[in-house]
Amino acid sequence: MIRMKDISKKYVMGDTEVKALDDVSFNVEKGEFVSIVGPSGSGKSTLMNMLGCLDVPDDGEYLLDGIDINNSTDAELAHIRNKKIGFVFQNFNLLSKLNAIENVEVPLLYKGLSAKQSKELAYDYLEKVGLKGREKHTPKELSGGQQQRVAIARALACEPQIMLADEPTGALDQKTGMGIMEMLKDMNGRGQTIILITHDVNIAKQGKRSVSIIDGRIIDETR
Ligand SMILES: Nc1ncnc2c1ncn2[C@@H]1O[C@H](COP(=O)(O)OP(=O)(O)O)[C@@H](O)[C@H]1O
Ligand SMILES: [Mg+2]
Repeated sequence: MIRMKDISKKYVMGDTEVKALDDVSFNVEKGEFVSIVGPSGSGKSTLMNMLGCLDVPDDGEYLLDGIDINNSTDAELAHIRNKKIGFVFQNFNLLSKLNAIENVEVPLLYKGLSAKQSKELAYDYLEKVGLKGREKHTPKELSGGQQQRVAIARALACEPQIMLADEPTGALDQKTGMGIMEMLKDMNGRGQTIILITHDVNIAKQGKRSVSIIDGRIIDETR
């Protein structure tokens, strides 16, 4: 499903250059639950942006279901993201003017669900993540952990083929975090591919396979 070969990405800040990804080769098969674990600054979010077709590498090859991502137009990438990929961003990326329900509804409407179906699903998923009663709150009226759960509900409700979750339990207490991990495992049980990004070895262990990233290099002990 995912084939990355010798992917590199550097950021230039003044006269310093950071190799955020350094010759990363990484494959994921359909239906896997893979954790990518590494310390802060190791390149996890950069890798997630690449995997999610939000950014393209300086060098290397990325095939997603056989499609050459480096040679796709922005419109093609947007279409692929829409069709295949769900995101939970580290900073949540909620729409600040919309309330919780509306945030979850937006991608469902984009997917072509009716207004009624979208609303029902959005209420359902907010309840699943423990936010019943908070539906009408805007992001700034919610705590960090609650915002994170809105972001998770939004991604889960779309039932994406591939779920990319960047520190999805980072803002949550242990019990709520475990609940979210169970939901990801359920998704995976229904055949969805999960890529979980975390600095927390104990969270990473919940996946079926775990690879490490350090200084932009993937250390894949499982292959
Ligand atoms: N937009 C950017 N501009 C400059 N440097 C960046 C940018 N994004 C990330 N970096 C640098 O790239 C490295 C990897 O960052 P990141 O992928 O966010 O790591 P992680 O998510 O593992 O904490 C870090 O050294 C970070 O400072
Ligand atoms: Mg990060």
